[in-house]
Amino acid sequence: MAKKAAHRGAGAFDEHFSAIYGPRWVSLRKALNEPSRPESHIPGLIKPYYLDRASAAAAAALGVQPGDEVLDLCAAPGGKTLVLATALGGRGRLTSNDRSADRRARLRRVLDEHLPPALRKLVVVTGHDATRWGLHEKEAYDKILLDAPCSSERHVLRDPAALALWSPARTRSLAQQALAMLCSALEALRPQGRLLYSTCSISPEENELLLQRFQVKRPGAWALVERALVLPDENAGEGPLFWALLEKSRLPG
Ligand SMILES: C[S@@+](CC[C@H](N)C(=O)[O-])C[C@H]1O[C@@H](n2cnc3c(N)ncnc32)[C@H](O)[C@@H]1O
Repeated sequence: MAKKAAHRGAGAFDEHFSAIYGPRWVSLRKALNEPSRPESHIPGLIKPYYLDRASAAAAAALGVQPGDEVLDLCAAPGGKTLVLATALGGRGRLTSNDRSADRRARLRRVLDEHLPPALRKLVVVTGHDATRWGLHEKEAYDKILLDAPCSSERHVLRDPAALALWSPARTRSLAQQALAMLCSALEALRPQGRLLYSTCSISPEENELLLQRFQVKRPGAWALVERALVLPDENAGEGPLFWALLEKSRLPG
């Protein structure tokens, strides 16, 4: 009798990602299991903050300029928000949002401990649902970061309890939530404003394939400027990080 494929747990995880990455999965899996090496590379802080180099590069790719109105929809614990705040150079405003109260408390601590007072006063912390933001505030921001809640396979792989519970259904539901967040972010963005979408997932459903679904859902409403997929097996342990920089169209799509 043919063996039924597992849909949950370590076996299903390996089967799923072997099918996506082919022979590369062996080296990628090994690299994901190595400890990550956060570094301090955000200039202009009063105390160093350690984060993955690829994360800092992704946040910098949004291209925040002094005077910008900026929204970080999923900001806690705050590594990328620190990059955005320092790029304001003392002018403009950053709204750093996160729905989780516990994580918001941590975000406030990070902002207070790391930002000089002249930058800290430009940052407002809020606690709304990112999937609904665009219903309430439209065409209000020059730049938006959406660092979406994602499958975080690097963490799953190192946590036996999480690995035992892993199933592709969770990836599908996170992708659906991220699509709702992308639509909401697009509403909140000014015409020709820029949106940086990022995840630390290695699942195409949450990355490239999600952008394809977003294109189908909002045809002509945005264009892709640049994107990158940084995987640790080929980038000296950095990542995983997928990011895509999008520009909202001049006229409604
Ligand atoms: C990938 S983490 C963000 C990491 C952060 N950008 C950083 O660089 O430190 C995703 C965050 O999204 C938050 N989140 C999850 N669902 C949300 C929602 N519906 N609205 C707003 N925030 C949400 C989580 O609490 C979590 O802190």
